[in-house]
Amino acid sequence: DHDATPYLPGRRAGLPGLRKAAALCRGCPLYRDATQTVFGEGDTTARVLLIGEQPGDQEDRRGRPFVGPAGKVLRRALADAGIDPEGVYVTNAVKHFKFTLPEGRKRRIHKAPTLREMAACRPWLRAELRVVAPEVVVALGGTAGKALLGSAFRVTEQRGAVLPWPGLDGNGGDGDGADGAEQGISGLVATIHPSAVLRADDADRTRVYDGLVEDLRIVSRLLA
Ligand code: URA
Ligand code: SF4
Repeated sequence: DHDATPYLPGRRAGLPGLRKAAALCRGCPLYRDATQTVFGEGDTTARVLLIGEQPGDQEDRRGRPFVGPAGKVLRRALADAGIDPEGVYVTNAVKHFKFTLPEGRKRRIHKAPTLREMAACRPWLRAELRVVAPEVVVALGGTAGKALLGSAFRVTEQRGAVLPWPGLDGNGGDGDGADGAEQGISGLVATIHPSAVLRADDADRTRVYDGLVEDLRIVSRLLA
């Protein structure tokens, strides 16, 4: 199949129905090697919906988004920015873990999803946005930014500003153009992926983390 559309439940499905349906998605080849679909989760009435890239190794094993090291950084940064980590909804641009297993190695190495895979998975993201109906969407890192704004997106240039909500095109979605719920989104804020903090050199880590918090403070101010 070329995208997730055939696997979507009816438009009236809530998050439990969506999660159940997504578990059976074969809308792109990524379901084959991953352990399971990792659907978004969190406060279903959240004012903020954060989008990461794809589940990591631990998320793939446990079936929940942001339960590994990057999630720990994310929750701390949210709290430091004045946003209750329990009050948000977190999900990913792509719901299956994409990885390579280098020969003779045990550890699976994360591989960035392609634009095509992000487009294939977009119907799930659209459905989550419809149900949660957040006020602010946060793109965590370059991949999430590209998933929303296209391949020209550069996190270094576009982070930390309130960008107009671009809308998720119906390409691979339910084909009805702008979604009603999406019109309630007042802005999109892009920032770095929390895993960039983990990857930074010791000498840079605090600065990189502070940058993440600073971007998230913009979100906090939008909510005030
Ligand atoms: N990184 C992501 O982008 N998403 C997760 O769920 C975990 C790590
Ligand atoms: Fe479906 Fe998305 Fe998984 Fe591809 S990555 S199989 S579109 S849930």
